[in-house]
Amino acid sequence: MKTFNDYYNNKVNLSFEDHPFDSSPKHVWVICRYKGKWLLTKHLSRGLEFPGGKVEKNETADDAALREVNEETGAKVDQLYYIGQYCVESRYQSIVKNIYFATIKELTEQTSYFETAGPVLLEEIPTNIKHNETFSFIMKDDVLTYSLAYIKERLSS
Ligand code: GTP
Repeated sequence: MKTFNDYYNNKVNLSFEDHPFDSSPKHVWVICRYKGKWLLTKHLSRGLEFPGGKVEKNETADDAALREVNEETGAKVDQLYYIGQYCVESRYQSIVKNIYFATIKELTEQTSYFETAGPVLLEEIPTNIKHNETFSFIMKDDVLTYSLAYIKERLSS
């Protein structure tokens, strides 16, 4: 397990084991790849981030991952891979998020993208992201760094 602080100095525990913190987590985050590029969404207040959100009632975390990707980018997932979980201990609550890697089969323009301005495709994730105002705080801790390394090592072809 890896432990570090996030952008707001909250403690984060990250693990690439099989659901180490919660067997039914309430949050999901999906690192998406489409035609050799990273697929992100532009959240209206937070900025650029990989899509994700809360698991709804009567929905599995995997279903939420597929739904959130579609709502926030208009993309249809081809393959969805669970890669790990992280737990953020903020002042008032702790949340547990599943991390996924998804390959995208198609991207269709939508009339609305919920709380986002829709899809953004990036060739590279910038290395100095922690100081880049365009990006969401969600992208500014070691969850991203470790997850991208995990994907590169185990899942990219
Ligand atoms: P709503 O207003 O109900 O959508 O929820 P919220 O703004 O309270 O956020 P949520 O329940 O999603 O998360 C609670 C807190 O956990 C947030 O304020 C963040 O501090 C933290 N948090 C949520 N998601 C992440 C994440 O992906 N990474 C990090 N580092 N912190 C997160």
